[in-house]
Order: sequence, then structure tokens, then C-alpha cells
Amino acid sequence: MINPSRRIASYQYAIRNIVAAAEVLERAGRKVTYLNIGDPQVFGFHPPPHVVEPVQRALRDRFTGYAHSKGLFEARKAIANYATEVQAPTGPEDVIVTSGASEAADLVLTALLNEGDEVLLPAPGYPLYAAILGKLGATATYYALEETNNWQPTVAQISSLINTRTKAIVLINPNNPTGAVIPDKTTREILKLANEHHLLVIADEVYRELCFTKSPTSASVFAESMGMPLITLESLSKTHLIPGWRVGWMRFTNAKNMTELIRAINQLASGRLCSPTPTQYAIKPALEGDRTCITEFLDQIRSRRDCAVGQIQAIEGLSCTTPEAAFYLMVKVHDLENRTDEQFVLDMLDATAVLVVHGSGFGCAPWEGYFRMVYLANEEALKSASDKIKEFVSTRRR
Ligand SMILES: Cc1ncc(COP(=O)(O)O)c(C=O)c1O
Repeated sequence: MINPSRRIASYQYAIRNIVAAAEVLERAGRKVTYLNIGDPQVFGFHPPPHVVEPVQRALRDRFTGYAHSKGLFEARKAIANYATEVQAPTGPEDVIVTSGASEAADLVLTALLNEGDEVLLPAPGYPLYAAILGKLGATATYYALEETNNWQPTVAQISSLINTRTKAIVLINPNNPTGAVIPDKTTREILKLANEHHLLVIADEVYRELCFTKSPTSASVFAESMGMPLITLESLSKTHLIPGWRVGWMRFTNAKNMTELIRAINQLASGRLCSPTPTQYAIKPALEGDRTCITEFLDQIRSRRDCAVGQIQAIEGLSCTTPEAAFYLMVKVHDLENRTDEQFVLDMLDATAVLVVHGSGFGCAPWEGYFRMVYLANEEALKSASDKIKEFVSTRRR
């Protein structure tokens, strides 16, 4: 028997792990409605031609060998210009193009942490961060986002969790799975706290432009004015509907305050050679070209959000608050009937063939009773899924 490393036991990514149960149903001939994964293409959304065509042309005519480990210069320059336009002045040398924001998170945390170091993460929050920490032998320390507080972090709680082992704080704004947006005032206060304790702030802003109201200011803008180091993770996956292309990046604010860390990140980046070259040609047209595709996408999913919220709120025994961004809805189950949230989700899958993800997969306590539902499906599919969920919940209550 060849055994895997012990470190991998804590590498959990519920959004995909839960799919195994759905596949069992499919093998038994049932059709599953997948409301577990945030991939707009699965639900019929397509990237705009001005992003697709340059990549097609690149494959035909341009250089698609190994790129520089930091990424193609024209892509890095476009990212730097974009950051400078949002008021976080950045040069191309302060950007590394990666295989999605996911690879950026892995490179930054791997370069930063020793075993036993701690990182502050939001709970609930995107599970990749805790998984990477587990792999590195570092510790995730969770700051709580409560629904009763509109899923907002509190500065006092974050402050109380900082100790000598704390190395960084991850801000996910807007957040996945809650769809909540952190007000600028809170972001500034958290940055001030991080600065006082010499913590690196990692700002995951992959959904920043996917807000139904005004987008929050990029944390990098505040970091710039406060003279503190911050790494922003961004991506075209969600804004330009190309998650499978694996196009993301990290950009450094106040790089001069983290030169050794950046050297280490580049050392790691050179080992993986480069992120895929062809799709890097999408970056410049995406950031400099027509951006109405983003508002059109938001217009379409706003009505889906309202439909999903209305449907869920009408089910006795379930509730939710209206998300301000992205395409996820956190649903509260009032009575789990002595089960974990995961068991509830598995039972619901079995009864309804609708797949969602349990809240504990995002760092909620299993008894809190949350699940995350993706609302990218069309209204007919959302209504059909909600009807099945309603039937399941009311049968259990009986
Ligand atoms: C908050 C958050 N950060 C990062 C990612 C990873 O995105 P990418 O496709 O850019 O790797 C996701 C994907 O769902 C996400 O929700």
C-alpha cells in the first residue's frame, strides 16, 4: 500500500467533495440539479467575444510557449494600469499572473508561512484558504461573520484573536458564501489593526466588480495611503465568465515593505514555470475593453437572486438574507432535526436530487444549520429546485 501524506487529511474542499454523493445518484439514473458550484458557464453564460477572440488569435499567430514566470508583460502592464486607475498605483513589476486567484493564494501563503503560524480567516468563507493552511501545517484562526450582524466582521473580535503567531489576515470582499460586502469604514479599521500588528493583509477581491449596488473600494487603495503592505488577489474567472481558463493574478501594494516575501513568491512562481500562456492574452482586452458584459451579467443574475430569495423565504423552516454581490445564497435551516448540516444536505440530495453545499464546508459550525445555494440557474430551474426543497423540508417537519 502506498500511503498519502498526513498533511492532506486537512485539505478539504467541500464544494467539490460533495459532488461524489451526487455522482452516485447519477449512476443510479437520477438527474441531479447542481446548485453547488459557482461556474457561470454551466448555466449558459458565455464570455464576451472581445475576450475570446484575442485568445483564439494568440493560439494561431502569437507566442504561446512558456511565458515569464511573472506573466506576459502586456498582461502585467494592463493589470498595473487597472490597479493604478482604481487609485492603487502599481507597476508591472508588482504583478504576478497566476492560474486563477487560487494559485495566487497558494503561492502567497506557501511563501509566507512556517508550520505553527496562524492566519485569520473569515467563517464562513471560501474554503481554499483553510485547505492551503492545513497543507502547510499552519493554523486557521476564524473570525466570525454572523448573519444577525449582516455577515460582517467585527474589528474587536479580530483584534482579540491576534497573537504572536499571527502572520496574516485574509479579507474576502465581497464574501463567498454570504454575498456580503464589507463597508469601506470597516475595511479601513481592519487594515489599521493589521498595520499596528505588522500583519500581511491578503485581500481576495474576485467578486469586487460583481456587486448589485456600489462596489467596495479595493483594500489596496487604503493600504496605499496607509503605507502598509497588502496583496490583492483578483481573477477574470467570475467577472468575465471564464473560470476554466485559469486567469488570475496577485498584485502588491507597498512592495518595498515586503521585498523578501516577494522574492520568495517569485522563487516559487519560477518552479511552476508560468501560468498558461494563451489565456493571458485575455487580460488586456478584459481590463481595457468594453465592460458592459459585467453589468449585463449582473442584470441577469439580479432577477435570479430575487427569485431565489423569494422562493426560500416562502418556505417555512428556512430563511436567508439578501446577498449584495456574487451569486451565492446562504440558507438557514431552523431545525436540523439532530443532524449535522452535511447530513441534512446529503438527505436533501437523496430526496430531491438538488445539490447544495453544507455551511460547515465554509467554516460554519455543523449545528448552525446553513447551506449555500448557487443562484445562477434560470428562474424555472430555481423554482423547480425550491419546490423540491420545500417538499423535503415540510415532509421532515411532519
Ligand atoms: C472568494 C473566492 N476566491 C477565489 C476563488 C478562486 O477563483 P479562481 O477561479 O480565480 O481561482 C473563488 C472561486 O470560487 C472564490 O469564490
